[in-house]
Order: sequence, then structure tokens, then C-alpha cells
Amino acid sequence: MKISQRVSSLPPYLFVGISKKIAEKRARGEEVISFGIGDPDLPTSDAVIDRLCAAARDPANHRYPESEGLPELRRAMATWYGKRFHVELNPDTEILPLIGSKEGIGHAAWCYLDPGDIALIPDPAYPVYSISTLLAGGKPYYLPLKEENAFLPDLDIIPGEVLQQAKVLWINYPNNPTGAVAESSFFEKVVTFARTNNIAICHDGPYSEVAFDGYRPHSLLETLGAKEVGIEFHSLSKSYNMTGWRIGMAVGNADMIDALKRFKSNLDSGIPQSIQYAGIEALNSSQDVVEKRNAIYQRRRDLMIDTLHDIGLNVNIPKAGLYVWAHVPKGYNSVEFATELLDKLGIVVTPGTGYGKNGEGYVRLSLTIPDALLVKGLSKLSGWQGIVGRTKSR
Ligand SMILES: Cc1ncc(COP(=O)(O)O)c(C=O)c1O
Repeated sequence: MKISQRVSSLPPYLFVGISKKIAEKRARGEEVISFGIGDPDLPTSDAVIDRLCAAARDPANHRYPESEGLPELRRAMATWYGKRFHVELNPDTEILPLIGSKEGIGHAAWCYLDPGDIALIPDPAYPVYSISTLLAGGKPYYLPLKEENAFLPDLDIIPGEVLQQAKVLWINYPNNPTGAVAESSFFEKVVTFARTNNIAICHDGPYSEVAFDGYRPHSLLETLGAKEVGIEFHSLSKSYNMTGWRIGMAVGNADMIDALKRFKSNLDSGIPQSIQYAGIEALNSSQDVVEKRNAIYQRRRDLMIDTLHDIGLNVNIPKAGLYVWAHVPKGYNSVEFATELLDKLGIVVTPGTGYGKNGEGYVRLSLTIPDALLVKGLSKLSGWQGIVGRTKSR
């Protein structure tokens, strides 16, 4: 069997070496503490689980769902957007439930790009934007996210010939992996850029509900005119500790939503209905659970930052999201530092280069680690001394 060119030419998985080492260590019975994955360790709320159980007992929910989701779910999503961002959305034309936002992000490239078209993609970034672009025959053009620009892309330096071929701009705030946030002024600039250059915006915002110190992340759609040029991806995964449930949404420009709906309806049959009812519960019920959960992440963030500072690492303190983006010490690159922490301390961090070449010089640590393990992991980290001839970053 010959595998298609499309799949064969996918870039190799960058963490292969580290994953192999983790497996070997665990096989030898050594403890490995992982700050690698951004997957909430905290449980989904009881109210959501109860709603799922009740819905699962109703035979009406054992049948094929509609690809575009229950009208009640789309209405709950519209109400949630209204309350959270003061954005009005038509549940029939401007909202599309997704089987997790990754599903919609992966399919978006097929809807908005023809072969050879350019997608403007941040670097570093969640890898699905570029992989789906490549699978759909598009060409990624990478926009470096630099610390000196607060990890926002510089739209003014994109060459004219690139702009002419570009059809889509991907952005993601609160950002994975850098932890950066974007203010309204940035979104206004993006909307003007999209209008001027006739480029569609895809804003990926799954971390909007994970924020600290009273900060409230923005939606692209709060910006005047945004709905004319873009859509936003959202997810219940991180907002409500529901990564395993697979429920998210695309909202915004009706033509872009319609294209995604048409594409999806030919490939999948939507979200299981009992999960859709659970999603309605998460969106409609009291949002106190979000506040309480964020207080836990904030405490973990502060503990982590103290430890990283203590061992001499320079760290950006995130206002939102699930990640701490730390400089590696001088004399190391990202993979070398991640490998050293794994080899010497049994600690897993993600090398920044896993998210693009501009991630070089950083590692990402996730806050989704149970408190007891976090404390144990941080205490191991605090014993890190560096190696002879290599110096700390501050
Ligand atoms: C930036 C970003 N977008 C989208 C997703 C996908 O989330 P989900 O498919 O669970 O909604 C993730 C998951 O980690 C992510 O980090």
C-alpha cells in the first residue's frame, strides 16, 4: 500500500526523541513528572455530568445528530457570546458547533484556501494551522511572534507579493504557546488589515476563559466590522475542563460559517446529542466554576514562576492561558534544555521549537498538573544547577 503524498510529506513529529525517552524512563520504573500537555487535570462540573447522564438515557439522543448541531445548542452559544463579549450572533447563520475546535480549525483550510494560496500563520503556534494548510495544498507564510512585539505579529512587514496571494490570517489570543494576550487595539488593526488586503481572519480563542488577576481576554468579534471579515474558534475544552468531551464552535462571518458547515456535513455527523446537552449546561449554568478554577491555575502559575526565577530563568508572566513560556538558560537550545531536565530530573517541559522555529530559546510549561505533582516537580526543578560552562539566563 502506498501512502498518499499528502500524508507522507507531513513534517515529522518534533517530540519523537523526548517521547521515546519518557517511555524508556517509565519502563525502568523511574518517575517522570510532566509539565508537557495542556490538558486540564481538574474535573468537569457535576452539573454538566448530570446533564449528560440524563440526556444519555433518552433514546432520542441515541440517533444521528444533525451536523450543524441542535438549535438549542446554537442558541445557548449565542446567549453565552452575548453575555460574555456583548456580541450578538444569529444562531442559524453565524454559529456552527464543532467536534472540538481542532476539528473546525483542521477543516477551515479546505474551505478558504485553493491549492497554492497562502495562509499567514504565526510562528510559534498551535501546529494545526500550518498542517491543515499543507494538507489542503495551501502555503504557510510564517509571521514571527517576537518578545519585543509582545508576541503579536507585525502585519506591516509582510511583503506585497505575499499579501496578494494570502487568503487567510490565523491569530490566537490568549496565545499558545507564548501566554501572550491581545488588546482591542490589536484586533482593530487586524480587521483593518483584513479589509484592506481582502484576507479572511481566523481567530482561535480557546483560552479566553482561563485568565488571572481579574484580566478578561477579548473576542475578535467585539471589534467593529470583524464579522464582515472573520470568524472565531472557541471551545468548551479549556473553558469548562471538557477536553475529552469534544465540543467547540466557530462563530462570525455567515459566508465562512456556511462554507465550513457544507464541508463538515459531508464528512461528519456532528456532536453526539447527549454531549450537546451537556455543553448547553456548561454554557448556561453559573460561571462561578470558571472563577474558582482560574484561582487554582493562578496559584499554580505563581508557584511555577517563583521556582523558575529561583533557578535563574527569565519568564514572561502570563495574564491568561494555560502556559508559562520560559527562556532557556544561556548555552542551551530548547531541545537541549528540555532533554537535560528530562535526563537529570525526570521533568518534562515542551521545547519551544515544537511550535515553530521562532520558539527557539524557550520552553513551555503547562499549569494542568495536579497540585501535589506540581509541588514535587517544582521542588525537583529548584535543584537544577545547570552544567559546567553554561550560565543561567539572568
Ligand atoms: C491554540 C489551540 N487551539 C485549539 C485547540 C484545540 O482545542 P479543542 O479541539 O479541544 O477545542 C488547542 C488545544 O490544545 C489549542 O491549544
